[in-house]
Amino acid sequence: MQRLEAESQLSYGDLDRALSRKEIIEGIRDVDGLLCLLTDQIDAEVMDANPNLKVVSNYAVGFNNIDVQAATQRNIAVTNTPGVLTDCTADMAWALLMCSARRVLEGDQLVRSQKWGGWEPLQLLGAEISGATIGFVGFGRIAKATAKRAKAFDMQILYWNRTRLSEIEERQLGVQYRPFDDLFPECDFVSVHVALTDQTHHLLSKRQFALMKSTATLINTARGPVVDEEALAEALQAGEIAAAGLDVYEHEPVVHPALFKLPNVVLAPHLGSATVQTRTKMGTLAIDNCLAVCRGDRPPNLVNTQWKSFGDGGSKE
Ligand code: GLV
Ligand code: GLV
Repeated sequence: MQRLEAESQLSYGDLDRALSRKEIIEGIRDVDGLLCLLTDQIDAEVMDANPNLKVVSNYAVGFNNIDVQAATQRNIAVTNTPGVLTDCTADMAWALLMCSARRVLEGDQLVRSQKWGGWEPLQLLGAEISGATIGFVGFGRIAKATAKRAKAFDMQILYWNRTRLSEIEERQLGVQYRPFDDLFPECDFVSVHVALTDQTHHLLSKRQFALMKSTATLINTARGPVVDEEALAEALQAGEIAAAGLDVYEHEPVVHPALFKLPNVVLAPHLGSATVQTRTKMGTLAIDNCLAVCRGDRPPNLVNTQWKSFGDGGSKE
């Protein structure tokens, strides 16, 4: 905030809560750039509140909250914060995986209840992580960083991705490709890492849970709507899959009520990038992106690459 205050004329909302749609529309009427959060829906109507808006800088790597096509039509640059949160989010995926496989939360509750009677041979038995098979749905930066962690646990690593890696890269990373439907039956852990688009909405639903092992765990640190939450709750209730570790939800901050009742589910409140170091880097990048466009430069992390800077003949000179 100090840097923005020094380098721009800044107006901002109440820092302790999300802005309403109306507040965003009112607030951006006279600005050059909007620096927004992943909880802000930035669509055509919002953009039309200010025909001079030059940039929508998202404080997130995911940008499903922004209508990129509408922005491109209006020659508004859309930027995000890739790279700086890769390891941090992979750590979170790993935390959820370990926490659900080893039933850490259930154990914590048992100890806190002060009803724990001491060590028992069959108490809270979980799933072995070392040597297990993990499958990645989507294999971009964050999935690859998570696979690196899996490698250290001697896991077999499978992936599905819209475009397959080169054979050389597969060999270098020690990963094997599977067609989408073939991925699920083999995995002890399935970790979701695709961006949310029209094509990936409910990519994992009833059918995929039926294909998974009854001992398998689902991890989602990507975006909630990629997973059909109702179908997931049913699959967990029916024992079709064993457990889930979730950082994201279909209708945040609302969570499917059935999930609260399931002890085999770990529920985190969208904390993937939530470390002091990473959030600081994301802020720096979001500011860099926003100010670059306002100066007339190409920003470091442009999402809509068709966008033309003013020097390149783009409008809004
Ligand atoms: C967090 O969810 C992000 O997309 O940065
Ligand atoms: C467990 O604590 C063991 O000693 O095996």
